[in-house]
Amino acid sequence: MRTFRIAPSILSADFARLGEEVKNVVAAGADIVHFDVMDNHYVPNMTIGPLVCEAIRPHTSAPIDVHLMVTPVDALAASFARAGADIITFHPEASHHIDRTLGLIRDAGCKAGLVFNPATPLSFLDHVMDKVDMILLMSVNPGFGGQKFIPQTLNKVREARRRIDEYTAQHGGEIWLEVDGGIKVDNIAEVAAAGADTFVAGSAIFGQPDYKAVIDAMRAELAR
Ligand code: DX5
Ligand code: ZN
Repeated sequence: MRTFRIAPSILSADFARLGEEVKNVVAAGADIVHFDVMDNHYVPNMTIGPLVCEAIRPHTSAPIDVHLMVTPVDALAASFARAGADIITFHPEASHHIDRTLGLIRDAGCKAGLVFNPATPLSFLDHVMDKVDMILLMSVNPGFGGQKFIPQTLNKVREARRRIDEYTAQHGGEIWLEVDGGIKVDNIAEVAAAGADTFVAGSAIFGQPDYKAVIDAMRAELAR
């Protein structure tokens, strides 16, 4: 049985009370805190940087999963490692030197991963599977919370699951498969059945007053 992880995206939290929001969502059962970084360059929106990561770090012991939607990548990745991130993922087409960027994230003591937009090919993984701890598949185009899940992603989840299982059967280790965008109580089971183990949900959780009720309902779907 796969271990499932729920990763609320604080993009949809109340930024005026971010520390409290992080504490509340972890108390409600979140496994990981998903931290969306947008630069108004790689994506048409702007959010939060390393200073905010450092500020929320003392508010939780849950892993902070930094999703970098930025270019260039390297300097910011290093700053987030210093700011207390546990996992740092980036979009391969945003880095000129994918292998180097993965290496510098791991050398800084974090788990490293690549993020794939709906139309970005998984072939970026071909020569770096040994340097990847997480594969993050976008099920919306990045930049905004509250978008609709793109169903074609399910095939890509299956393909990524195949690659992970094949690789780990041969070489051991563990690679997490995270899906991000439009995940709700009513589609999480389908995404899990396709092979995902880690689920980002922003608006589905922070859009409701009772975070625990949503997270419990998601876990019930995953246990079906
Ligand atoms: C989109 C972000 C997502 C987003 C998810 O660029 O990477 O993490 O916040 O939000 P929902 O769950 O509302 O689609
Ligand atoms: Zn994200």
